[in-house]
Amino acid sequence: MSNFFKTEFGRMYLGDALELMSVMEDHSIDLIMTSPPFGLVRKKDYGNVDADQYLDWFRPFAKEFRRVLKNSGSMVIDIGGSWIPGQPTRSLYHYELLIMLCKEFGFHLAQEFFWWNPSKLPTPAEWVNIRRIRVKDAIDCIWWLSPTPWPKASNRRVLVPYSDSMKGLLKNGYNAKLRPSGHDISAKFSVNNGASIPPNLIAIANTESNSIYLRLCKENGIKPHPARYPADLPEYFIRMLTDQDDLVFDPFAGSCVTGEVAEKLKRRWICCELIEEYLKGALYRFKPETKSKTKKTPSYNLSHPAALWHGPANENPLPQDGGKQRPNKTKSKV
Ligand SMILES: C[S@@+](CC[C@H](N)C(=O)[O-])C[C@H]1O[C@@H](n2cnc3c(N)ncnc32)[C@H](O)[C@@H]1O
Repeated sequence: MSNFFKTEFGRMYLGDALELMSVMEDHSIDLIMTSPPFGLVRKKDYGNVDADQYLDWFRPFAKEFRRVLKNSGSMVIDIGGSWIPGQPTRSLYHYELLIMLCKEFGFHLAQEFFWWNPSKLPTPAEWVNIRRIRVKDAIDCIWWLSPTPWPKASNRRVLVPYSDSMKGLLKNGYNAKLRPSGHDISAKFSVNNGASIPPNLIAIANTESNSIYLRLCKENGIKPHPARYPADLPEYFIRMLTDQDDLVFDPFAGSCVTGEVAEKLKRRWICCELIEEYLKGALYRFKPETKSKTKKTPSYNLSHPAALWHGPANENPLPQDGGKQRPNKTKSKV
């Protein structure tokens, strides 16, 4: 374990997060914000754990996470799903992780979030592009967990502008009435509070291509981290769940996006990473020239699922074998 780099607010450690946590005090961390190695079939350079061994691998970390977190604190885990090797079905490992964290380690599920990355490639190509029997997997699950049911939090820190339809309702008025769902929508819904409370679906395209981090990695012959999350993601949770000077910990820090964001938001931070090259690259995040303007990602609209459907008369029959037989090349464009 070595103390790799220090800033005004934070520290980067090179080494195993388990070892680092063994010297951390009980209840000393306000937020664990992290994206662990996923249980993937196609492994990244830094080595992933097989989905079926994932829980055993995670257990010692879970025990320490629970110990070092303050009672008012939170743990936010960004975790992607995985396919069962050789068949078009999904592993349950990330749901099993969630259940283990709650049932075995006493965490509470404060809320589940879903991060939609509109720029995700359509993989696995075999099921999505060739046999056309599954759709693009473009969601990471984000488990927001807490040691008590009452972690400190405020959605006021993550408000968004009103949608056009809400602006219309505010302008033209809303008929207070009982909805068919049983919800009683009172006139209070047409009060303009200046902003809207966001849903638990977060849309951020992971499309960093011309950042200073990437440029400096390239210029200095350092391999950029292959699985970075976009800065907007930790920023959302750090804003919502911590105050200035609170302590944010990323045990699986990779290129230290969490540290960069925490520094910007004036939170103290600790990042830990096993692979030295990733931390060498991470240093570029803390050069004065890097701390430039934040680029806001655009908002996204979802197309209606039937936008290109022309009714039953134009349907081709579904493959009766569920796509088991690989199709011959088809001329159809859609
Ligand atoms: C999904 S990546 C994190 C990427 C990071 N969020 C970013 O945006 O750059 C997971 C990282 O955890 C690191 N890692 C795996 N086991 C570790 C351990 N025991 N201690 C510290 N880091 C570890 C891996 O080397 C990998 O870089």
